[in-house]
Amino acid sequence: MSEKLQTYDEVKKEILAVLEGEGNLVARMATVSNILHHRFDHYYWTGFYIVDPQKPDELVVGPYQGTMGCLRIPFGKGVCGAAAAERETQIVDDVHAFAGHIACDANSASEIVVPVVNKHGDLIAVFDVDSLEKAAFDADDQKGLEAIISGAFS
Ligand code: SME
Repeated sequence: MSEKLQTYDEVKKEILAVLEGEGNLVARMATVSNILHHRFDHYYWTGFYIVDPQKPDELVVGPYQGTMGCLRIPFGKGVCGAAAAERETQIVDDVHAFAGHIACDANSASEIVVPVVNKHGDLIAVFDVDSLEKAAFDADDQKGLEAIISGAFS
């Protein structure tokens, strides 16, 4: 197992221990964003876009760490919108070359977005991490983050 995957494994245990017994979704999302953001140097913007119950084809910003994020993202738009529409993790090595990318912060260079699905199989949010470096996220980030997100929300 790579050093990065080992770190994700440790972070997962820490997150699940802190979340034990906490049912509030905002508290859970805030804690996941905070712990991950402060553990990895390649994280620049870290947070959730939540499926808006009033507009189910739109994401609205949730708990996050970093510079100010856009408030709303329609399904299918940008990297977050693609992850929501396809329900598949997206890794983009160069966001400026991604058609339809939503530039909330022009300093972001690459990103990973993981769909958040609850125990009933419903998409409730996406988890978005941006980096200042190009190609900052790889298969280990995907594996580590998917395990944390599914452990915390499904
Ligand atoms: N870059 C994202 C928008 C959200 S922010 O980066 C915080 C996208 O294209 O989905």
